[in-house]
Amino acid sequence: MADEPLVLGIETSCDETGVGIVRGHTLLADAVASSVDEHARYGGVVPEVASRAHLEAMIPTIQRALKEAGVSASDLDGIAVTAGPGLAGALLVGVSAAKAYAYALGKPLYGVNHLASHICVDQLEHGALPEPTMALLVSGGHSSLLLSTDITSDVRPLGATIDDAAGEAFDKVARVLNLGFPGGPVIDRWAREGNPDAIAFPRGLTGPRDAPYDFSFSGLKTAVARWIEAKRNAGEEVPVADVSASFQEAVVDVLTRKAIRACKDEGVEHLMIGGGVAANSRLRALAEERCEAAGITLRVPRPKLCTDNGAMVAALGAEMVARDRAPSDWDLSADSSLPVTEPHVPGTSHAHDHTHGHGHGHTHEHVHEVSAGNLHGA
Ligand code: KG4
Ligand code: ZN
Repeated sequence: MADEPLVLGIETSCDETGVGIVRGHTLLADAVASSVDEHARYGGVVPEVASRAHLEAMIPTIQRALKEAGVSASDLDGIAVTAGPGLAGALLVGVSAAKAYAYALGKPLYGVNHLASHICVDQLEHGALPEPTMALLVSGGHSSLLLSTDITSDVRPLGATIDDAAGEAFDKVARVLNLGFPGGPVIDRWAREGNPDAIAFPRGLTGPRDAPYDFSFSGLKTAVARWIEAKRNAGEEVPVADVSASFQEAVVDVLTRKAIRACKDEGVEHLMIGGGVAANSRLRALAEERCEAAGITLRVPRPKLCTDNGAMVAALGAEMVARDRAPSDWDLSADSSLPVTEPHVPGTSHAHDHTHGHGHGHTHEHVHEVSAGNLHGA
């Protein structure tokens, strides 16, 4: 619908430069430039390399998204950007770009939370988020169980990993198996040829006295590494497919078990799974099976919306506009440890009042200072 908010979202919290454009719950563009290949030889994301890549990719990616969406920057109702959590230097590039564009164009700026965005993106796939929704967020940087009654204002953490993130465990096991980086997609592929019951790897924090919603993957990672080392020391071949399948099963078994338990304990009927690891085929299948048995409706966005992207930021920004949340101030800063309980960074001053609505009012004066022409032409 034409009266739904048209928002551009910028994501630079890790190694993906994402720019998405949405109108309400409709995805119009999802442009992503990834520097993942530049990090592959280091086996992990190098912050300085990521920041530089964001800087180079930013303007071309914004232009690509506008072209893909078939809209002009002046049509936008707001610009949203990941304010945190993430890599400080990488976030800074996105926040600076968003501010420059918003200021030059006279649009409200919304600094939003990366984790809440991972949840909100599902609106682009399955429509309005049910309230409440339980979210299992699993990626290279985070693994959490979150309960939200309103994605723009209320996100409550129930549990999180106490050591490695789920994606990190995939990446580390892949490294021990010499499968390259990132590890998730390769292990997912190898696991299809293997037996998930071949090796009994530990299920972390699943004892009766353990925190019911917290996760731990570092013991599992060590157990896998030891098992592989023992094979190699004995001069035996490492069965990559069976190790992949058994390791993956241990991860997804724990993730789904805890997520469903949280839904049951809290009386929540809707579970969404987001973050890069939600692209995992076995996680999707097992979650489907267990949710069905428990009478829970499962929502998982398509893989491209699960990994980091700008559309998720735009989706949350559009929801902020739709629910009339206060825009951020011009001195919005990148916050590498922005708490998950803060879906966005509302402004305290009235610096944004003149940018409300569709009028361009006083902002003409500012356009001379931060030239939109220069930004586009660079
Ligand atoms: O959300 P994301 O793109 O970036 C972060 O915020 O971390 O997630 C990347 C993580 C990596 O650890 C990667 O190995 C993992 O998601 N991943 C997968 C799969 N695809 C990506 N893990 C398991 N199975 C997959 N198919
Ligand atoms: Zn992420």
